[in-house]
Formats: sequence, C-alpha cells, structure tokens
Amino acid sequence: MERTFLMVKPDGVQRGLIGEIVSRFERKGLKLVGAKFMMITPELAERHYAEHIGKPFYPPLVAFVTSGPVFAMVWQGDNVIGLTRAMIGKTNALEAAPGTIRSDYAVHTNFNLIHGSDSPESAAREIGIFFAPHEVVDYNQTI
Ligand code: CMP
Repeated sequence: MERTFLMVKPDGVQRGLIGEIVSRFERKGLKLVGAKFMMITPELAERHYAEHIGKPFYPPLVAFVTSGPVFAMVWQGDNVIGLTRAMIGKTNALEAAPGTIRSDYAVHTNFNLIHGSDSPESAAREIGIFFAPHEVVDYNQTI
C-alpha cells in the first residue's frame, strides 16, 4: 500500500477545479487520507521545490505557488504514485495524453493545475513537509 502527496495549485483552486480533480481520484477507487486548504509560504515553497532551485523556472514557480491558496492532499492505495501520475499527465500540457487532468484542463506548463509526487521517496518527503503525522488519517472503509 502506497501513499502520495497531491496538491491542487492556485490555478486549479481559482478555476474551481478542486471538486473535479478530487472526484477523478475518488472515482478511480483511491482513498483520501489527508487534506488541507492553505497558503504556501516562500519558505515552504523552497523546501517543496528544493530540487528546482537555480533552474530558470524556479522564481516564477515560487511566485505562482505562493500567490493564492492550494489544496494539499494525501492519497492512499496500491500503486497510488504511478496511478495518479498517469491520471495527471505530463508536466507540459502539450505532451499530456488525452483524458489526463492536464490534457483536459491545462494550457501552460507554469499553470498545470496539480502537483503529484514522482517516487516513494519524494512522496514521503512531501507528505512530511505539508502534514503532521496526526493529520494523515487512516481508516477502514465501512460502507
Ligand atoms: P510540478 O509537478 O509542480 O513540479 C515543478 C513545476 O515547475 C512543474 O510542475 C511546473 O509547474 C513548473 N515548471 C515550469 N517550467 C518547467 C520545466 N521546464 N520543467 C519542469 N517543470 C517546470
């Protein structure tokens, strides 16, 4: 069983796509175990995007993710990292496969609606940055 960190970015929040995006993962059969509507501080952005420091797109990326609220989530399920990456689509909306979130709703790489962890290591790191252990709620599905 895996967990992953997913985050609807400020463009997704402002375009009213939280429900659409969450709904896709729910209908897939994945399990939501943590969620938080929040602002990202510059310090948090730097930790989250540490691997991109120094790249040309880093300053606009930080400016963008700190510009408005995000919807940060933890999802759980077998192969949840690979499954959600496939459902999100490639970073560049031009390359995202039809039917993916980015193909269906995004136009620009800088405004690509959602972030998803790309490996078990980054998932553990990102969940730890955004969520305290008690904020991730495991539970049994009873209905
Ligand atoms: P995300 O999955 O959040 O990870 C890094 C983000 O940087 C990426 O989505 C894009 O929104 C943004 N970005 C902008 N330009 C690039 C690029 N050339 N390569 C990768 N990411 C980019």
